[in-house]
Amino acid sequence: MIKLDPRDRLIVALDLPSVSAAEAMVSRLGDAVSFYKIGMELTYGGGLSLARDLAKAGKKVFLDLKLHDIPNTVAKATEQVADLGATFLTIHAYPQTMKAARGALGGSSLQLLAVTVMTSYDDTDLTEAGFAFGVKDLVARRARQAREAGVHGLILSAEEAADMRALVGPDMLLVTPGIRMADDVLGDQKRVMTPARAIAAGADHLVVGRPVTQAADPAAAAKAIVAEIASAA
Ligand code: C5P
Repeated sequence: MIKLDPRDRLIVALDLPSVSAAEAMVSRLGDAVSFYKIGMELTYGGGLSLARDLAKAGKKVFLDLKLHDIPNTVAKATEQVADLGATFLTIHAYPQTMKAARGALGGSSLQLLAVTVMTSYDDTDLTEAGFAFGVKDLVARRARQAREAGVHGLILSAEEAADMRALVGPDMLLVTPGIRMADDVLGDQKRVMTPARAIAAGADHLVVGRPVTQAADPAAAAKAIVAEIASAA
């Protein structure tokens, strides 16, 4: 696991309906949070300019765009994201897509995170989609291919972190959603881990949404998570 300020290990998912709601949350969180994830929903609602503004304000930005297209299009899109000043960008873990994105980084500090198999897919869904591998084997195959392509890290559930760390070695970043404090409500997450257990399992960064953004005091909730990360890292 790489050495990091515990605060930079927490990535707060800005899953909010508008840029103005996201800006209000960022201002409430203040210095308690240094890293934000902007997903597809907010991106299509003006989130790219917010990403640029956050990066200019010294925050780190994770653009969860899950790129997948022909190599030329992936490369050009990756260049645009690098220009925004983002720190992380997600791509689907298809070999062509990963190589194209990696080749487009140039001297930028943008880091790529591969999505191996979407967690909504089980073995039956993969068969229906025409794949010859089940989830476990396809995740392992794609994780190896991501490492070979020079992709910086993987998105995965915290439950998979320990096995994945053993598979890919110490150098790839492991970024895990599905994090809940021991007394949090689960919402629609079925398989969750506490921050301390996720860090102990080998996660480098934790993506947390509602436990922070829906808290009565979001800054206090974020600080509690960072404190737990610090105690485990
Ligand atoms: O609110 P919550 O903490 O559940 O948010 C988790 C974030 O991580 C959301 O942005 C969600 O889309 C994302 N995510 C996830 N599980 C995955 C992939 C992404 O929860 N397998």
